[in-house]
Amino acid sequence: KRVAILISGSGSNMVALAESMVGDHPARPVLVVSNVPGAGGLERAAALGIPTAVVDHKPFGQNRVAFEAALQQELERAQPDILCLAGFMRVLTEGFVTAWQGRMLNIHPSLLPKYRGLNTHARAIEAGDEQAGCSVHEVTAELDGGPLLGQARVPILPGDTARTLAERVLPMEHRLYPEVLRRYAAGDRTPVMLS
Ligand code: GRF
Repeated sequence: KRVAILISGSGSNMVALAESMVGDHPARPVLVVSNVPGAGGLERAAALGIPTAVVDHKPFGQNRVAFEAALQQELERAQPDILCLAGFMRVLTEGFVTAWQGRMLNIHPSLLPKYRGLNTHARAIEAGDEQAGCSVHEVTAELDGGPLLGQARVPILPGDTARTLAERVLPMEHRLYPEVLRRYAAGDRTPVMLS
C-alpha cells in the first residue's frame, strides 16, 4: 500500500509512521505534503528520503475547495492508497473527505468522543479527568468523528499542565498511529487499545 502523510508542523507523527513502514510492513510512504511552507516535518521527510510537496492554503483564502483541488493534484501524482493526517491543521470539506472516505486516517490528541477540536489537554485537565490520551479514527465529514481505530490512555497527574500532559501523550501517539496503520494497511479494522 502507498501512504501519503499530510502535515502542518513538526511532523513527529509523520516520522513515527514513516519509520514504521519497513521490512514486511504492508505499506510504504510515498509522499509528505504540508499546507505550511517551511514546516519542520518537510526537512524530516526529506531526510528520510520521502518525496515532499507544499500546498500553501493561504493564497486560497477562504476558498477551501480550490485549496483542496491543488492538494488533490499533488496527491494524484503520488497515487496513494491511504492518506494519514498527522498534525494536519486544516478542516477538510465534505467533498474531499467523501472522495477519500474509507482510505483516510487522522490522529487526535484526546480520548474521542471527548474533546473534539482544539486545546484538548487543557480541557481534560480543566474537567478534572483522571485520564487523557489520543485516538486514531477514519476521517468522515464530522470533525474528529468517524469510526475509532485505536486509542492510547495516559494518567493525568496532579499539577499537570497542558504541556506536561502533551509531553506524556505524544510518545503514545507515536506508538499508536503506526500500529493502527499497520493493521489498517492489511485490511484489519480491529481497534488498537494501548495504555
Ligand atoms: C500532536 O499533538 C497531534 O496529536 C496533533 O498535532 C500535534 C503535533 O503533531 N494532531 P506532529 O508532531 O506534527 O505529528
